[in-house]
Amino acid sequence: MTPVTPAKTLACIVGARPNFVKIAPVLAGLREMAPGVRPVLVHTGQHYDAAMSDRFFEQLGIPEPDVHLEVGSGPHGQQTARVLERYESWLLAADPKPAATLVVGDVNSTVACALASVKLGVPVIHVEAGLRSFDRTMPEEINRVLTDAISDLLLVSEPSGVSNLLAEGRPEGSIKLVGNVMIDALTLQLQAARDLRQPEKLDLQPGGYAVWTLHRPSNVDDPVALTRVIASLQRTALKLPVVFPVHPRTEARLRAAGLEPMLAGDPRVILTEPLGYLEFLGLSSQARLIVTDSGGLQEESTALGIPCLTLRSTTERPITVSEGTSTLVGSNGSLFDRLVEDVLEGRYKKGHCPRLWDGRAGRRVAKEVASFLAGA
Ligand code: UD1
Repeated sequence: MTPVTPAKTLACIVGARPNFVKIAPVLAGLREMAPGVRPVLVHTGQHYDAAMSDRFFEQLGIPEPDVHLEVGSGPHGQQTARVLERYESWLLAADPKPAATLVVGDVNSTVACALASVKLGVPVIHVEAGLRSFDRTMPEEINRVLTDAISDLLLVSEPSGVSNLLAEGRPEGSIKLVGNVMIDALTLQLQAARDLRQPEKLDLQPGGYAVWTLHRPSNVDDPVALTRVIASLQRTALKLPVVFPVHPRTEARLRAAGLEPMLAGDPRVILTEPLGYLEFLGLSSQARLIVTDSGGLQEESTALGIPCLTLRSTTERPITVSEGTSTLVGSNGSLFDRLVEDVLEGRYKKGHCPRLWDGRAGRRVAKEVASFLAGA
């Protein structure tokens, strides 16, 4: 443990749902390993519904945010600009001024706070640095590249992140492979999640259903792509029941495309509101199959050893394909159908959990943060 004296303030940023799952283990790690670091939690308000935000704080044991920026939804430019402006104002007034800003993941709040911070001379620490899909049409890819370009400490979840950062010329000494903090949360909460008996509550057999999630613009914003994905969902439902917690953005697009009544009328498809962290983990961890376009869920299914068909043609998390249980199916319907059959007949690859996805990544993050701040 590296002592940091006197205590240094670390502004920790969260904005959207996947950020909450990542910050919980980081805060726990700091409490345990870095007593000289005083975290100040800043919630940008990118996600604000009880189902998308508050419930995650309760279930993951995240303290009430110290600061709320209340930016809400909006087009990307506007949302990013609002976070940038409001975080900058807060930083200018903060007393004491934070010694660093810690951002996680790849959402609009991540890049906006990193930029506000670095312009004021406050160093940036990025947790989940270096991931690259090499698809610049993804808003998150732009957020990743820009955030890493201005971060001073780059904390990486899988080896591809290290090589990507080195290829972009980031200094070797600023890059640390610490593992995957999301898997810390999963390891800690798995038993509580299972104890909820979520499948039974939906009249499902553990191991006898698929869980489906969908929210990427490339799948939901274009009605042709959305119709194709929903057709795959309905074909899957002929083979095993499908639970589909619907993200607010997807719900709006399903309604606009006129697809909602068809899904709602299918007895083998269970549509739900967005679920809490524990409810979702309770369901996904006992599924036979996961189908998703989420980055986090590709990683969680790999850690759980559950087959995951990823509805994308690229991934910034290649280890979930090379070592884990994910396969990129893009928009290839016949590949998708064949792999569903493989899963049902026990032929699908087994995969294994990558190194450093061991429930201790938050502690390693805290150790690196403490030694960075001691030298800052
Ligand atoms: C954002 C992230 C994405 C992440 C996802 C997880 C970016 C670029 N995207 O996408 O990387 O995987 O979060 O959910 O930052 N809405 C609500 N209630 C809320 C929040 C949003 O109803 O609490 C609705 C709004 O209509 C909003 C839409 O959902 O316009 C999309 O929200 P937004 O935060 O813009 O993007 P996500 O699609 O959630």
